[in-house]
Amino acid sequence: MVSDRGDALVKCPGWGQAPGRTQYGPGMEAILQSRYGPIDNLQLGQVARPVPAEDEVLVRVRAASVHPDVWHVVTGQPAVLRLMGSGVRHPKERVPGTDVAGVVESVGRAVTRFQPGDEVFGETVRGVQWRNGGAFAEYATAPEIGIALKPAGVSFEEAAAVPTAGLIALNNLPQRRVPPGSRVLVNGAAGGVGAFAVQLAKAYGAEVTGVDQRSKLALVRSLGADRTIDYTREDFTRSGEAWDLIFDVPGNHSFHEIRRALDPRGSYVLIGHDAFGAIGHHWLGSIPRMLGLVARSAVTPQLRGGSFASPNKRRLMNTLAQLMETGQLQVVIDRTFPLAQAPEALQHLISGQPMGRIVLVVGG
Ligand SMILES: NC(=O)c1ccc[n+]([C@@H]2O[C@H](COP(=O)([O-])OP(=O)(O)OC[C@H]3O[C@@H](n4cnc5c(N)ncnc54)[C@H](OP(=O)(O)O)[C@@H]3O)[C@@H](O)[C@H]2O)c1
Repeated sequence: MVSDRGDALVKCPGWGQAPGRTQYGPGMEAILQSRYGPIDNLQLGQVARPVPAEDEVLVRVRAASVHPDVWHVVTGQPAVLRLMGSGVRHPKERVPGTDVAGVVESVGRAVTRFQPGDEVFGETVRGVQWRNGGAFAEYATAPEIGIALKPAGVSFEEAAAVPTAGLIALNNLPQRRVPPGSRVLVNGAAGGVGAFAVQLAKAYGAEVTGVDQRSKLALVRSLGADRTIDYTREDFTRSGEAWDLIFDVPGNHSFHEIRRALDPRGSYVLIGHDAFGAIGHHWLGSIPRMLGLVARSAVTPQLRGGSFASPNKRRLMNTLAQLMETGQLQVVIDRTFPLAQAPEALQHLISGQPMGRIVLVVGG
């Protein structure tokens, strides 16, 4: 069916219409997930364009990033995410992805900071990350507080790679915790979150040690790390050195081991990574370990470094935009894929091969 304006109209059962009624709306291409399971279940299809709520913008998506939380929701692992708003039997929102960059198409009535034509980047989801956010599509809605203007010198692909990983890094590594000259170790320094943590710590004036596998250490140095450690050859917790802050992405050491490498007045921040289901509890992922550390932080000041508070996304997104604009935060793109190849992009993510971020390019 075609509208008066010539737009393709799409029949959209189950998409926000009154029960029992079939609606037709302007259509768009999107990656669709009907159930939890193998990545290959994802398919390119046609659905109705989303309509922005009062405090949301509609973005014509130019790029969307492929990151570990997308994999979690596509596969439904760990199972607890289904109870955290993603949908118990099948995903409530059928279009995966949470991080976009693109051009504002229209705005809700209460939106004041953006207007059609603005180039923006940000997160499409509110609150918990473990849910589909509709980013793998030609159009996506995003809350006004979750987006920022894209700096002019930054590409859509680079901007789309930043939001979630940048928010995790910035929220857990605020400048006040890293006085100039402090010794910061980033474990998992070449990864999505670690690469931003290295650059943030350098921007704050820290002396940064980056830990990752040998083939990725040149990348870690190019991000500004003063020193690197190959984790396959050296265990930093047995080096005899001490750091003021350890920012730990993989979490492959117990806190007992970490303490050997932590200044008595230092702090430890665990991000946690369950290596696509290879590590961590099948039902609960890394949550039990996180809760254990939170409980222990009552008597261990070194564990009070992380942040469990809801981030002020508006402020953090603007900070990320400024850091990109000044060149203090750079994005290394490993590879881009067209939207239709989202399953291949996710396979590439879990292969362990990427040197940098993976981004879907949408439209043109
Ligand atoms: N990146 C994002 O946009 C994003 C979004 C949402 C949530 N998150 C969450 O943030 C966490 C980290 O994600 P990420 O994207 O940073 O993961 P990542 O890109 O896979 O990075 C992890 C890094 O740690 C390295 N590593 C593995 N084992 C190690 C060890 N024993 N010692 C030192 N380094 C080791 C990995 O290298 P090798 O494995 O190749 O050896 C890799 O370079 C995950 O829990 C993820 O769910 C990330």
